[in-house]
Amino acid sequence: KKPKITVVGSLNIDMVTETNQFPNQGETVIGTAFYSFFGGKGANQAVACARLGAQVTMIGAVGEDLFAKQLLETLDKEGIHTKCVKTVPHQTTGVATITLYDNDNRIIVTPGANHSLLPEDVVSLKEVIADSDMVLLQQEIPFETVEATIRLANELQVPVMLNPAPAIELPSELLKQVDVITPNEYELAVLLGLDEKQVQSFEYIIKWYPYRIVMTGGSSGAFYKSSTGEIKHEPGRQVEVIDTTGAGDTFNGALAVRLSEGSTLDEAVKFAVAASALSVTKLGAQSGMPTRSEVTQFMAE
Ligand code: RIB
Ligand code: NA
Repeated sequence: KKPKITVVGSLNIDMVTETNQFPNQGETVIGTAFYSFFGGKGANQAVACARLGAQVTMIGAVGEDLFAKQLLETLDKEGIHTKCVKTVPHQTTGVATITLYDNDNRIIVTPGANHSLLPEDVVSLKEVIADSDMVLLQQEIPFETVEATIRLANELQVPVMLNPAPAIELPSELLKQVDVITPNEYELAVLLGLDEKQVQSFEYIIKWYPYRIVMTGGSSGAFYKSSTGEIKHEPGRQVEVIDTTGAGDTFNGALAVRLSEGSTLDEAVKFAVAASALSVTKLGAQSGMPTRSEVTQFMAE
C-alpha cells in the first residue's frame, strides 16, 4: 500500500536562463538558452514523492493566471491530488528566476500567491493532515503557516519532515516538533544561528542538536545521525551534471517516501542520494526526477 504524503508548500513557474558568463553589476551579457518549467520546492517535492511511489496531496496557493491552470494540470497528470491548492484572486503565481551558470544555479523567488497560503487554510484541512502518513514542508510559504502546520501535525501525531529552505533561524521549541530536518550546510548554520566555523564540524552540530537530522552535501552526498547515534556519511554518486535545480527536492521527496514506508534512516538516505544524483543528469527541476524503478535499477548498477 502506498504511503500517503501531504506536501504543504510552494508552486512556482521557473524561468531559466543558461549563460556561460555571469553579469557584473551594471553589466549585460548574452545568455545561451531560455526555458520555462514548473517548479517551486513544494510542487517539486510533491512530484518526487508521486514518482517514487507515494499517494500525494498538495496544499498550496496559485494565482489567477494562465500559468496556474497549466501547473495544476501537470500535477494532476502525476497523480497528485490538487483539490487543496487554492486560487488567490488578483495575485500572480509564484515565479522563480533561475540562472544556470557553470554547473551552478542562482535563484530569486517571487512568492506571489504562495504568500497567501495562511495558517487557517491548513487548519481547515485538518482531516487531510490527519489522514497522512507524513507531512512534508519547506519554507517558501509564510513562516506562520509552516509553524501552524507543524503544530497541527504534532497534535494529530503525524510525522513531520521539514526541508528548511530557503533558510531562516527557527526557534528550538518548534524544531522539537519536527521529526526529520534536512538542511544543507549553509541552511543548517542559519537555522541554528551558528557561524560558518561552527557548522563546519558536523560532529559538533550533531552532539549539540538532539533531533533527527540529515544534512545534504550536494555532490558529496549526505551526512546524518543513525538510529544508534553514530554519524554517517552516504557518499554522492558520480554522474554527469546537467542541472542541479530540484536535486534537493528529489532528495527530500525520496527520503519522505522511504521513511513513511517504514524503511530505516540508512536505507532511506541511500535511496535519496541515488534519486537526487539521477535528477541532476536532466534539465529542469520536475522533468529530471526519476521514477521508483529508475532509482532501483541505478542502485543495482
Ligand atoms: O528547489 C528548486 C526550486 O526552488 C525551483 O523549482 C524554484 O521554483 C525554487 O523555488
Ligand atoms: Na534536474
